[in-house]
Amino acid sequence: PIIYVVTPTYPRPHQRAELTRLSQTLLLVPSLHWIVKQDSTVRSQPVADLLSQSGLHYTHLNLKASDPNWLKPRGVEQRNEALRWLQLNRQSDHTGVVYFADDDNTYSVRIFEEMRPTKKVSVWPVGLVGGLRYEGPLVKNGQVVGFHTAWKIHRPFPIDMAGFAVSLSLLLSHSEAQFDPNAERGFLESSLLGQLVSVGDLEPRADDCTKVWVWHTRTEKPKLKQEVYLEKQGRGSDINVLV
Ligand code: UGA
Ligand code: MN
Repeated sequence: PIIYVVTPTYPRPHQRAELTRLSQTLLLVPSLHWIVKQDSTVRSQPVADLLSQSGLHYTHLNLKASDPNWLKPRGVEQRNEALRWLQLNRQSDHTGVVYFADDDNTYSVRIFEEMRPTKKVSVWPVGLVGGLRYEGPLVKNGQVVGFHTAWKIHRPFPIDMAGFAVSLSLLLSHSEAQFDPNAERGFLESSLLGQLVSVGDLEPRADDCTKVWVWHTRTEKPKLKQEVYLEKQGRGSDINVLV
């Protein structure tokens, strides 16, 4: 099966750093198609160049998210656009697997092999998320029977975006399935999964969800205040140097 990795991304000083790190992880994974959905009105040249030089199979899409509201989840419209792209362009792939990979997390190549045999929805723990060392499904006799979580514990699927993959055929057979753009923070994953499966259908991976192969890392915002200082003196960094 091909793994379709869907990554929403948006312009910021460290965007190329994030995408470089992620793309070079993805290079280590066979049979992978990267769908990069950029949060902007145009497909930016730096992202286009990065993709074309990456050596990956990829699709570069763009969409300017309408309402940047910090109360609402981020990257939702981009992910839904990617789902529509799959509906339109991958109807014939009955074996694919779809994974929503944010651009700032840390991924072991192991997680991609864990998700490859997904029948409906596979799940595994995610490190450094939800205010815990890890969050993850609890497994008994090969079945998910609950979740180790402490944040918004009434979420129907208390699973971070990085903690599940969906088979493409399941998505294609639920053509209306989308992330809910109005979901409260933390309920985004549940808004999609609730349309596709129930908890008992989840397929536990990573040794019955006892291993962590993906981490919800977050990058520190770069401090660029010396840049402002130098610009005032007309000695700012060369804008032709792409960072
Ligand atoms: C957590 C979850 O891990 C995300 O999957 C979820 O979308 C997010 O919360 C949320 O509910 O808002 P977090 O680290 O807080 O993640 O979010 P970011 O990493 O800042 O953003 C998630 C993804 O959306 C990233 O790939 C980011 O590049 C993208 N994004 C973020 C945009 O495309 N546009 C934005 O304005 C912000
Ligand atoms: Mn993040």
